[in-house]
Amino acid sequence: MRKILFVASEAHPLIKTGGLGDVCGSLPPALTKLGDDVRLLLPGYHDALQVAGRLRRVAQLTLPPFAAPVNLLEGKLPGTHVKCWFIDFPAAYDRPGNPYLNTHGQDWHDNASRFALLARVAVVIALDHAGLSWRPDVVHAHDWQAGLVPALLSTHTPRPATVFTIHNLAYQGVFPHATFQSLTLPHELWSMAGLEFYGQLSFIKGGIAYADRVTTVSPTYAREIQTSEFGHGLDGLLRHRAAVLSGILNGIDDKVWNPGRDPHLPAHYSRQRLAGKAQCKAHLQTELGLRAEASVPLLGMVSRLVDQKGIDLLIAALPVLLQQPIQLAILGSGEHRHEATLRALAAQFPEQLAVQIGYNESLAHRIIAGADMFAMPSRFEPCGLTQLYSLRYGTLPVVHHVGGLVDTVVDCNDLTIEQGTATGFSFQATEPEALQQAVLRALLLYRKPRRWRVVMRQGMQQDYSWMHSAAAYQELYDELLAAATKFEALTPP
Ligand code: ADP
Ligand code: GLC
Repeated sequence: MRKILFVASEAHPLIKTGGLGDVCGSLPPALTKLGDDVRLLLPGYHDALQVAGRLRRVAQLTLPPFAAPVNLLEGKLPGTHVKCWFIDFPAAYDRPGNPYLNTHGQDWHDNASRFALLARVAVVIALDHAGLSWRPDVVHAHDWQAGLVPALLSTHTPRPATVFTIHNLAYQGVFPHATFQSLTLPHELWSMAGLEFYGQLSFIKGGIAYADRVTTVSPTYAREIQTSEFGHGLDGLLRHRAAVLSGILNGIDDKVWNPGRDPHLPAHYSRQRLAGKAQCKAHLQTELGLRAEASVPLLGMVSRLVDQKGIDLLIAALPVLLQQPIQLAILGSGEHRHEATLRALAAQFPEQLAVQIGYNESLAHRIIAGADMFAMPSRFEPCGLTQLYSLRYGTLPVVHHVGGLVDTVVDCNDLTIEQGTATGFSFQATEPEALQQAVLRALLLYRKPRRWRVVMRQGMQQDYSWMHSAAAYQELYDELLAAATKFEALTPP
């Protein structure tokens, strides 16, 4: 049984702002099912502690430079047997709402110190210095918020093996050099090959430069981030680490995303019995104030409203798209300028365009189920989960041909239809016209219901359950453990 410590800043259903939460809430239970002993370390955010239910204090730690003691609370990831440790340190985490941003949408002023604390606690647990009588074989850290974990662990021997997963290279946790000093990080970590990034402190470099293995969430994104176009200034380092870098596609949690028993839906359906999907569509149209017409194709989108997601491409494509008999349902929150534009457009085209600004887990399920097509015009996409949910729910994804979208959506054309492999529509150029063309192609197919259903069923039968991906992570852990054993065997006593 492998002992794995997951260190992350989100895990559904405790706390979630995007796909990181989905992955860290569903990969640990999948690994547990395969026989591993996985424990999850999370910041004790106000909202997460509310959801967590009964907790007990299992340790009290003193961690420089923090003056007050840090408590460790133990509970379970709700609905699973996965043990979860929360860092109870109210000065850092007792704030409701978004884990990274204040109510004005700005980063919390003390994010560096909040996530350095996460790393410090992870190290104490990893070295079995927290009095928990548990020492992981592998520490698996996720995204910049956990980036200091591999860096700090690298200064200890012996130590567990480390894996760092990049869910999104665009978010790097970069802070002034003065922060490096105020966090009292070990001096030897300050170098170009280490945490220094153009004179500043980079948390994500802590993961990329120091982890024994670096992964990202799709094979295509693993290649893309080694190029200057997608590398966000880190492509050189990633090329340098190419030998330990790989892409493992995300999976989806069948307990949460299954049209056959999704509690958020007004009706249920499956690949064999599709009737419920039409009910979901009619219900969604009514819920969003659109005319409940079965024959009008409905394009959905559920997304963070940021440039990554290509929302500007969709906005630019709208004038042409809205000339077609089509309805759109958009749910999202993010940059205020995108929110404002979408609200204004919805007021202008109330018959065709429904926009809900905000975060609404339940409505997200109903859009993905009720829509006929799902838009994902992302400029870059490490993996993307909503296109996987859409495939599962018989909603044809319309995607930009990048990152994980390349690895998961097969474009409809004569050949792929004939071969029976088509699952959606993809476009190449990062231009509104290319998106328009893809949607227009989708609308043409929509007029051929029998063909449409063939593609829909092809998407629904894809298996993106966690089992394959969790097994791929296990293989990676085993490689690391085998290497560690070999190293120990070679080291003279
Ligand atoms: P990312 O992590 O880049 O945001 P993913 O496609 O991997 O993209 O995951 C996004 C997750 O967040 C999905 O579970 C999606 O349903 C959810 N989501 C995004 N925006 C919203 C929203 N406004 N309301 C509810 N869920 C949302
Ligand atoms: C990130 C990426 C998204 C990915 C998710 C989970 O937020 O933007 O593509 O699916 O992480 O790995």
